[in-house]
Amino acid sequence: MANILHIDSSPRGERSHSRKLTADFISEWLGKHPGDQVTYRDLGIHPVPLVDEPWIAAIYTPEDKRTPEMQTILRVSDELIAELLKSDVIAFGVPMYNFGLPAGFKAYIDQIVRVGRTFDGQTFQGLVKGKKVYVLMSAGQQYSPGGPMASFNQVEPYLKTIFGFIGITDIHFVAVATGGGDEILEQTRVQANEEIKKLTAEAA
Ligand SMILES: Cc1cc2nc3c(=O)[nH]c(=O)nc-3n(C[C@H](O)[C@H](O)[C@H](O)COP(=O)(O)O)c2cc1C
Repeated sequence: MANILHIDSSPRGERSHSRKLTADFISEWLGKHPGDQVTYRDLGIHPVPLVDEPWIAAIYTPEDKRTPEMQTILRVSDELIAELLKSDVIAFGVPMYNFGLPAGFKAYIDQIVRVGRTFDGQTFQGLVKGKKVYVLMSAGQQYSPGGPMASFNQVEPYLKTIFGFIGITDIHFVAVATGGGDEILEQTRVQANEEIKKLTAEAA
């Protein structure tokens, strides 16, 4: 039995295409891996705090010297990291905003990339091992590799870099294009669903 972490980050509800993609992914996954446990987190509706000066001071204070206030400040980050570490598979729903991540998802990244917890502060080696990550992205346009818009896509290279930094290298991207009319949306949704079927079937 594996632990699946399902995280959405669109601030939209019913209208969100990335939420539809993660829902399809989870349902496809559970169809093939019944009995796996899903934990759900909604960064779009319940955003996590931005890092600030007290947070930074707290993470650079040795654990045994942290005041009760510092421990309280780090509680959200501790919880997010524990949730990440106990998961085997993570499905992120990510809308593209201004060619990058929505701020709510970046705030999540800032909370989980933490010295001594998810990367080693001496060697800069990642400490998060053995995870499979699936990024289910919705964007207005298509950013096909080699296509005219490919280099505008900052979501994929950034997430590969930051997840790679904390030790996650098994990472897959699936995208739909929502801004080019119904035909393109339908076409990219069909492709995305085929990709999801393939990826969930390949996963051990
Ligand atoms: C503030 C904002 C910025 C956006 N920036 C981009 C962008 O840079 N490139 C793009 O292709 N689509 C962009 N879009 C379109 C969204 O990526 C698209 O509507 C997507 O479906 C949103 O995800 P959701 O349906 O899960 O909410 C933007 C939308 C918003 C609201």
